[in-house]
Amino acid sequence: MNDPSQIQVLVVEGDSPQNRELDDYLRGRGYKVRRVPSAEEAASFLKDRDTSLPCVVLIDIRPSDGKGFDVLRAVQKSPPGVGAVMVIGNADLKAAVESLNEGASATLQKPFDMNEVGIVLEKVVEKQKLVIENINLVRRLKEMNLDLERAVQEKTSELKTKNLVLLEIVEKLKVLNEMKSRFVANASHELQTPITSILGFASMLLDYWEKIDRDQVIKFLQVIRDESQRLTKTSRDLLDLSHIQEGSMQVEIKELDLPDIVAKVAESMKMVKDTVRIVSDFDEGSRVIRSDEDKVRRIFTNLVGNAVKFSPDGSAVRVRARSRGRIVVVSVIDDGPGVPEDKRDKIFEPFYRVRDETGKAVRGTGLGLAIVKATVEALGGVIRVEGTRGKGSDFTFVLPKEVGEANGKEQRSAAGAERSPGR
Ligand SMILES: Nc1ncnc2c1ncn2[C@@H]1O[C@H](COP(=O)(O)OP(=O)(O)OP(=O)(O)O)[C@@H](O)[C@H]1O
Ligand SMILES: [Mg+2]
Repeated sequence: MNDPSQIQVLVVEGDSPQNRELDDYLRGRGYKVRRVPSAEEAASFLKDRDTSLPCVVLIDIRPSDGKGFDVLRAVQKSPPGVGAVMVIGNADLKAAVESLNEGASATLQKPFDMNEVGIVLEKVVEKQKLVIENINLVRRLKEMNLDLERAVQEKTSELKTKNLVLLEIVEKLKVLNEMKSRFVANASHELQTPITSILGFASMLLDYWEKIDRDQVIKFLQVIRDESQRLTKTSRDLLDLSHIQEGSMQVEIKELDLPDIVAKVAESMKMVKDTVRIVSDFDEGSRVIRSDEDKVRRIFTNLVGNAVKFSPDGSAVRVRARSRGRIVVVSVIDDGPGVPEDKRDKIFEPFYRVRDETGKAVRGTGLGLAIVKATVEALGGVIRVEGTRGKGSDFTFVLPKEVGEANGKEQRSAAGAERSPGR
């Protein structure tokens, strides 16, 4: 049973004792009754009515203006939730059939049986409630469908983006994997070459010792010693590089005298090649820094070592340092062949060597600069190379005066701004 106070009943009728009795009955039951005498007023009520409540329109087939069917058509056109009941004269079967054909939900006969009125109203309201419920369900379904489509679209574009990121990662991993394979192949080759040499000469000594003269024995032993030293250096460099790259490098900070370190490096270089001079030029603020002695010495040994071995006899290698706020900018400058512009990034990769005439004549594994770059960066600095091909190289690096103090941005911009004099 529906609550009559939540049901609108529009009665379109003329004034008669029977109609008044109907009116009393409806009001007595608590329905929200509105009575209008004409089709126009009925249409205007339907236009403005509260659509949240179901509505039943009781239409006297012959109201005062005689336009009962007009009201029925207005009901058809109004928003869902309105049902029409045609009130017809006793036993007027033709009118009853016509009403149902025109869309009436039910008919009521005069004189009214109030019991029947109650039952018919109840049925029409039930039907309208179902219609409203249906419409709401369809609307809700449409909304849910839209939400779903939107969610699917969002997820699809999210997946596309993730897919792209994944593809990028896969590409990077492929490159890394190739780099690793190349590194292992290079490392094996660099270790294998001296071992082959050592084995060959040692076997010759053992197999032919009676036939080999003293000078040859000395030569063979020198090769064995040189190749053993090369093997030791390569394996030590490889270990160093892997420690730095793993991030497991220990740093021991103390006060360092940079010109003193350079002097010691220069001294040891004399044993390798004494035809090249090493000239130091430090300004006041660049002499003392707080950093790791071994690592700073390793940077100078590699850079000065390269400069010396690539320099022509009789030339000078200049080590120039300048203080810039909380950093020092150091350049190692030589008069050797220089580095071709398109190789300036590559030479910092492990095992990379420029294979020109000079490169073939000068020995090396190609690990030195990779170690230097990793070491400089581990100490909070940066390095780059400049110089004109054929007119020498300029390796410039930046170190913080106190490790971890100056920030990377400051160091990088200073490295970019600094230009070496004298060329
Ligand atoms: N001062 C320089 N002048 C010209 N070319 C240089 C200079 N320093 C480095 N290079 C080029 O960069 C390459 C890589 O240098 P790196 O120090 O890494 O290796 P290497 O000196 O050949 O061998 P290693 O240092 O392992 O003994 C060199 O082989 C050379 O081609
Ligand atoms: Mg080197």
